[in-house]
Amino acid sequence: MWKPDKVLHEGAEATVTAGSWLGRKAVLKSRRARSYRHPDLDRRLTRQRLAVEARVLSRLSSVGFPSPKLMFLDQRNSSMLLSKIEGMTLYDLLKSVDYSGDELFSLGSLIRRLHETGISHGDLTTHNVMSTNEGDLHLIDFGLSRQSPELEHMGLDLQVLRECLGASHSEIDGAIDRVCKGYMEAQSLNDDAESAENVIERFRKIAGRVRYHG
Ligand SMILES: Nc1ncnc2c1ncn2[C@@H]1O[C@H](COP(=O)(O)OP(=O)(O)O)[C@@H](O)[C@H]1O
Ligand SMILES: [Mg+2]
Repeated sequence: MWKPDKVLHEGAEATVTAGSWLGRKAVLKSRRARSYRHPDLDRRLTRQRLAVEARVLSRLSSVGFPSPKLMFLDQRNSSMLLSKIEGMTLYDLLKSVDYSGDELFSLGSLIRRLHETGISHGDLTTHNVMSTNEGDLHLIDFGLSRQSPELEHMGLDLQVLRECLGASHSEIDGAIDRVCKGYMEAQSLNDDAESAENVIERFRKIAGRVRYHG
């Protein structure tokens, strides 16, 4: 049974509580209704995001991608139990004094691996990347992800990350360039996937578009 321990995160859309389930460390992610949206629309969006996240997490775990394992899905209560990742968010890691810089290159390779699996993330901020106590990166929070993404969605993943790095981690020089280097140098696992060059080129176009329009 689920034994809650402490609330890890109380956001606008979801509450994440750490605890244990059948003796295993887990987190309960509950999506909440947002009062300013129409209730029917809200229920539909909440259900949709939950279903997307559950489906993508199952797919990722079947290919051994580092992300939480789905342990239990409770659609009626808009919540799911996930394996707990012991570590800290990349956000906190980048803010810590002993930050070495290697993580951004590894993150680029991990994003490439996600895209080669045929999934885009949709909300790639440093709060949605976790670093384990062993130093491995895991991606979390797949409610806005897509299966079979278009080139634009993959480019947008890098753009969202670029904006996050610029806004929250501007003290790190050339942060997004390190991510892109990792992305380009990742070993290819899937010859049918969109090439890394094409994704980076699309990302540069999107970034240019954003700059030009202010
Ligand atoms: N599986 C997990 N293991 C450990 N911490 C987690 C896990 N899932 C979420 N968290 C923590 O809770 C926070 C919010 O979770 P997230 O899935 O990103 O929800 P939201 O959609 O509200 O952003 C994360 O930034 C992370 O700190
Ligand atoms: Mg999140």
